[in-house]
Amino acid sequence: MNANPNPRTRRPLIAANWKMHKTVAEARAFLEAFLPLVRDVQGAEIAIAPPFTALQTVGELLRDTGIALAAQDVFYEPQGAYTGEISPPMLRELGCRYVIVGHSERRQLFREDDALVRRKLEAVFEHGLVPILCVGETLEERRAGRTEAVLERQLRAAVEGLSAEWVGELVVAYEPVWAIGTGETASPQDAEAGAKFLRSWIRELFGAGTAERVRVQYGGSVKPENARELMTENVDGALVGGASLDPQKFAGIVKEAAAAVSIS
Ligand code: 13P
Repeated sequence: MNANPNPRTRRPLIAANWKMHKTVAEARAFLEAFLPLVRDVQGAEIAIAPPFTALQTVGELLRDTGIALAAQDVFYEPQGAYTGEISPPMLRELGCRYVIVGHSERRQLFREDDALVRRKLEAVFEHGLVPILCVGETLEERRAGRTEAVLERQLRAAVEGLSAEWVGELVVAYEPVWAIGTGETASPQDAEAGAKFLRSWIRELFGAGTAERVRVQYGGSVKPENARELMTENVDGALVGGASLDPQKFAGIVKEAAAAVSIS
């Protein structure tokens, strides 16, 4: 555990990814319980990514709370004949600030490849939203010693050639696939190694100033019990699945993470 708050210039982002959970009524009930619990939290930014169907209600309930609204996915065209898809302007209209792009569940279950993730990420930036780009290796890739190669491939495909200004705004979520929903959290050392690698790669391509601005989250079985120790030097927050569905647990994670850092 970090005895002393870890100094940094980046404000950590603790984001809830509800995945395909919560009806509108359940989302309301969550916020009724959650908002009072985090009223006094400082030093960390909070975001909630409900399913599309609850975005409007959650957006209204988050107004004036300082908590950001996020979407779990997006399509890259602004409008058109794309049955079932949601565009960046639609998300903006509802007050979204962040959009999760390239989550491993989308990559694996819905066959999203690096090229599609790239198009989505660019569209998100073009419409004034901030992408939370998910990257991470599978267990097989880790065992084969390919973690860094996979992270580099995913990150390069997503951001190479973009302006440093955009890239500086980016949030990258390092989510090892083997740690998602499994209860098996990466060790703080593994989370730090992944985050550090991602940041140094951004430094090489876009320079030190940009690399210092990018926030790198860790995701994968984050809970109140491990949130504090995971906020290592290069880890600026968390992307939380299962534990974000429970107001007490998510508030606990937010508080632990905020207590772990001091912003300079
Ligand atoms: P869990 O916190 O349930 O492991 O999910 C992590 C995740 O995929 C967040 O996007």
